[in-house]
Amino acid sequence: MRPETMVVTAALPYANGSIHLGHLVEYIQTDIFVRFNRMRGVRALYFCADDTHGAPIMIRARNEGTTPEAVIERYQKEHLADFADFNIKFDNYHSTNSEENRILSEDIFSKLTNKGGIVKRDVSNAFCEKDGMFLPDRFVLGKCPKCDAPDQYGDACDTCGAHYDTTDLKEPKCSMCGNQPTRKSSSHYFFRVSDYEETLKKFLDSDALQEEVKNFLTTWLKEGLKEWDISRDGPYFGFRIPGEENKFFYVWLDAPVGYLASAKNWADKNGEDFDYLWKSGEPAIHHFIGKDIVYFHTLFWVPMLEGAGFSLPDKIHVHGFLTINGEKMSKSKGTFINARDYLNHLDPEYLRFYYACKLKNSIDDLDLNFEDFFHRVNAELVNKIANLASRTISMFNKNSALGNKLTGITGPEARMLQEMIDEGGAIGSDYNSCDFALAVRRIVRMADIANTYIDSAKPWEYKNDTQRAGEILTAGINALRLITIYLKPVIPEFAAKVEKILLVDPFRWDDHKTLLTNHTIGEFIRLADRIEMKAVEKILEEAKSASIDESATQDDDLIEFEDFTKVDLRTATIKQAEKIKKAKKLLKLTLDLGGEERIVVAGIAEKYSAEEVVGKTVVIVANLKPRKMMGVMSHGMILAVNDGESLKLLTPDGQVASGLKVS
Ligand code: MSP
Ligand code: ZN
Repeated sequence: MRPETMVVTAALPYANGSIHLGHLVEYIQTDIFVRFNRMRGVRALYFCADDTHGAPIMIRARNEGTTPEAVIERYQKEHLADFADFNIKFDNYHSTNSEENRILSEDIFSKLTNKGGIVKRDVSNAFCEKDGMFLPDRFVLGKCPKCDAPDQYGDACDTCGAHYDTTDLKEPKCSMCGNQPTRKSSSHYFFRVSDYEETLKKFLDSDALQEEVKNFLTTWLKEGLKEWDISRDGPYFGFRIPGEENKFFYVWLDAPVGYLASAKNWADKNGEDFDYLWKSGEPAIHHFIGKDIVYFHTLFWVPMLEGAGFSLPDKIHVHGFLTINGEKMSKSKGTFINARDYLNHLDPEYLRFYYACKLKNSIDDLDLNFEDFFHRVNAELVNKIANLASRTISMFNKNSALGNKLTGITGPEARMLQEMIDEGGAIGSDYNSCDFALAVRRIVRMADIANTYIDSAKPWEYKNDTQRAGEILTAGINALRLITIYLKPVIPEFAAKVEKILLVDPFRWDDHKTLLTNHTIGEFIRLADRIEMKAVEKILEEAKSASIDESATQDDDLIEFEDFTKVDLRTATIKQAEKIKKAKKLLKLTLDLGGEERIVVAGIAEKYSAEEVVGKTVVIVANLKPRKMMGVMSHGMILAVNDGESLKLLTPDGQVASGLKVS
């Protein structure tokens, strides 16, 4: 017999960026859920991976002069270190750029094809002539076709939530070069999601989704299921579609398959049966995702699984977005805080505790308010819980007559502790339903009760009554023990220290049903220190300066200094000028470049007459390839600015010689 098994995933983070505090909401939420289940004795398997494919990673690598593989490798290392330091414990962390994922993606594609669910037809897509490539969704910016919000990406609108095709965007622009894309036709593969309408309706009726998420899906089903374009033309970093030269699976096809691939990789490494995990229908399957990717995980992922014969998820837990001090995380405000910025200054368990305080089973956004963070951690975790430990255990240790041996428990203490034991059921179901905020509230209330008990029982007054002092402290230590068991999924390191002090085996969930009596404990160790506001300020400062550095070095539009020096800019004096016949805008200029004479054609005739420009010193690009304009060969270009109303030649500030280099 296998132990009860559960498969749990968190969304796969993109492999071209660092983990930030927003991501951590999800990985911590999932980790708490998994740890709770592991404590209950469930074999909860936590799978994740880096999401490596797609155009952004390819372009990023190109700009850095490296390969996508190198970018992926660097971020995978970084992600793993960040997660480990936040005590997020995966059973397997894989990559979508893996052999398992390629095989599974091809297999799913072929199963869907065999069922007639994939069709191929020509579509016209945004193509940037300048960059020589089809522009993926995120590389076209424009106005939302539904609500007219500006600067939206080509796939979905941040403002109204609409999903649409890239070619629907109004006033589209290439995000790399700013040019308006043209349209170009090529053949694409489409997944006929509408074949799976019944599957989706059944899924909607199951209890896999939160009510708010059901509403989304209901609306999408009402709007009618569209065919989903699952292919992209090269150049693209991804899996080549079998039988195609230059077409690749769209990143969102193989990304969720990455869940399966990570499980497969784990199963192969551990001599386990992958099919049991995802085909037997036995283990419960839980996905944790943010509200921005519900569309992919319901409309597309569920039909893919169904079509390829995999089990459907039992639950998709959707959470909201993290805001910081009430606002969207922002680089310029310094609130775009990476996992590492935080780790450099604060204890990871504080953030785990705070997120647990805020997480409900809801898609509402949650706010990390630093004042509130500071207050809750200090007031609840440190002053109530850690302090209950230090005041009881230290006093217990110091009373040598007790010999560190806990007494039995009777009378009113037994009643108080029984109530705490009885709360275990409710706290367990809070964890199960991902209402961690409620669980923490119950636990903190317990700490209040225990502290009040110690305050009124006054164990320090029983100097001559060792037995009574021992009983009071034993009750206090037992309250602390129960609180720690209940909080262990949230703050595992804190719990590990308490286990060490109490000289007990790692806590399991059912340990809350008993008390620890007549047992010898060890010496106190410090459990948690107060947060200093200075640490928070430092994090914010560093995040701000890091984002300034980053925006200076990572902007895709920036050029190298060497690129700039390739342009030969020189001063030149206009010797002669004449209008070019039939060209309203053009003047033919004869320039003196300090001993050299040049003919340059300039589009300035609407603002300048031939007479008025003669004698002016201007700046020219001297090493442009010659170009013929209206029958005249032009050997360079003069610089001017056009502010929309008028055009002005750029001239040196003061008298200078001709032919000087401008730098
Ligand atoms: N690669 C996709 C997921 C593929 S799953 C098959 C992706 N990656 S992501 O890095 O952008 O986000 C990973 C997860 O973190 C998503 O569930 C996303 O919702 C979540 N979050 C990213 N930023 C977040 C906040 N600011 N707040 C809360 N969660 C956030 O999407
Ligand atoms: Zn472009």
